[in-house]
Amino acid sequence: MAGRIPQSFIDDLLTRVDIVDVIDAYTTLKKAGKNFKGLCPFHQEKTPSFSVEPDKQFYYCFGCGAGGNALGFLMNYENMDYVEAIEKLAAQMGMEVPREESSAAQRSREKNQELYDVLQQCTLYFQAQLRQHPQKARAVDYLKSRGLSGEIARDFALGYAPPGWSNILDTIGTSESLKKALLNAGMLIENPDNKKNPIYDRFRDRITYPIRDNRGRVIAFGGRVMGDDKPKYLNSPETPVFHKGEELYGLFEARRSTRNLEKILIVEGYMDVIALAQNDITYSVATLGTATSTNHLRRLFKLVPEVIFCFDGDNAGREAAWRALEQTLPLMEDGRTARFLLLPNGEDPDTLIRKIGKADFENRVSSSTQLAEFFFQSLGQKVDMNSLEGRARLGRMALPYIEKIPPGIYHQLILDQLATITGVDLQTLGKLEKKPKEASVMETITVSQRLPRKTRAIGRSVCMRAVNLILLKPDVVNELEDDNELSEIESPDLDLLLQVIELARANPSSTTPELLGRIYATPLGTQLTQLLNREQITPVEGVSQEFREIMNHLLNSHRRQKDHRDSLAQARQMLSSRRNPAENPDSEPNQH
Ligand code: GTP
Ligand code: MN
Repeated sequence: MAGRIPQSFIDDLLTRVDIVDVIDAYTTLKKAGKNFKGLCPFHQEKTPSFSVEPDKQFYYCFGCGAGGNALGFLMNYENMDYVEAIEKLAAQMGMEVPREESSAAQRSREKNQELYDVLQQCTLYFQAQLRQHPQKARAVDYLKSRGLSGEIARDFALGYAPPGWSNILDTIGTSESLKKALLNAGMLIENPDNKKNPIYDRFRDRITYPIRDNRGRVIAFGGRVMGDDKPKYLNSPETPVFHKGEELYGLFEARRSTRNLEKILIVEGYMDVIALAQNDITYSVATLGTATSTNHLRRLFKLVPEVIFCFDGDNAGREAAWRALEQTLPLMEDGRTARFLLLPNGEDPDTLIRKIGKADFENRVSSSTQLAEFFFQSLGQKVDMNSLEGRARLGRMALPYIEKIPPGIYHQLILDQLATITGVDLQTLGKLEKKPKEASVMETITVSQRLPRKTRAIGRSVCMRAVNLILLKPDVVNELEDDNELSEIESPDLDLLLQVIELARANPSSTTPELLGRIYATPLGTQLTQLLNREQITPVEGVSQEFREIMNHLLNSHRRQKDHRDSLAQARQMLSSRRNPAENPDSEPNQH
């Protein structure tokens, strides 16, 4: 698809074009004062009621209400979309319409292709060395010692980067452009200070683990020493095709081996993924030496409804699990499950699966701790659950996390659970109720404090964008249903949006210029014309979809906001029905 037309070009075009010339080609205009008059091209008439104002670069028909700028005129008269109108006007002016990014994007695509190509060659080269290098025995023995079969080595395209500084350089970097591609792909290292080897192979004397993207293209490598040298693992650096924070090792292989993935196990190491696959657990992935991010999780939840985090059972593992939980909360829509499998001390999935086998391992997976349980467990460890203060504090710590869960049944269930946990405890200490002076802890958190600022006034730009889209294609308002709810949205631009919706509704099947014509010279008209002139290009086919998405977004934000308010009010009511001593707003759990 062609790229976007830069706004600066449209501005430039509109200042160079004279609307009088444009319209004069369609209907004869005569000067009348500072304006021009003529017969309206949009409806049949005998006396001219069509007026063009050079000052404002605007036309308007007092007879039929048509009106707009030069682009709008072409859109209306020639039945063109916005982009076509720009192209036509530009052609008349002898200007070429530039497109943002498209050529640059194309160039970078071609560049990336060179990287994919050399990375694929490296993969084949390393695989071949595992079969034929004079010192292959070391590598083969190492893989065997880790319990891996030839088939698994093949499935994961494992290889062997032999000893030496220029194996890749000499066999694959045979031209300047190939060398450059290898460098950009992270396979070569350049060091001009090193007189003997100014350019040399990154991976030397290591087992190689290709990292593949969704489409199976190799985008990077991990390399492991076979002995105890340091560093144990060497990874490709960030390159144009490899972004560590986004990739998951083993995802391609998991999807390839299981047609309908139901769940995904997230582990820490390359070898964990491979050892699990060796033991017929073919649904695990590893982050590449980084913590699991919301980004990673978003990708996984698009594929499967259930993820299981696998961590060491030690303190560091628990802390990592808590961080993973924090990343997961915003994605916990109804129907999704997250679990936590904390492994026995000193084990990782690789050692454990080899010890206990597939069936036992899968039992542990299916009985692993649910997110809610892990959540309350972890918080419970931070407080004294036997004291009123402790339980109140638990309630207080939990709410900001629960707020991150999207509205829905799951959200409600966790809130109920919180009420149960703290509520029961508070009941047993009901005597404290008699201290009316002391505010409940929950009352110290007012609803407005707790609501993220963002959700209180829904994005200005979002409302304005909706206005813009209606101007581009007025009939999109037919997509709207519930006006009542719409009018509850809190946004400084809501009024304008509602006015425009009303305007478009009152004039069904009107075009953009007609719509503008009806409110021509009113403050609203002026505001909207300016808006439209600033409008970025959206292909007409895209308008309805974007409008739907934007309105859904507005309504969802509104509902979420309302939902949070209700839930919080409920929680507050439950918790504050028992009086208890106020606390200092001190430490929250796991502030890493
Ligand atoms: P082994 O079982 O010893 O082969 O390793 P592992 O796969 O169990 O990995 P480990 O648990 O030791 O580390 C987890 C992950 O952290 C690895 O898969 C790597 O992505 C990364 N990692 C570990 N050690 C290093 C290192 O020395 N350098 C780099 N860059 N990353 C490492
Ligand atoms: Mn390991």
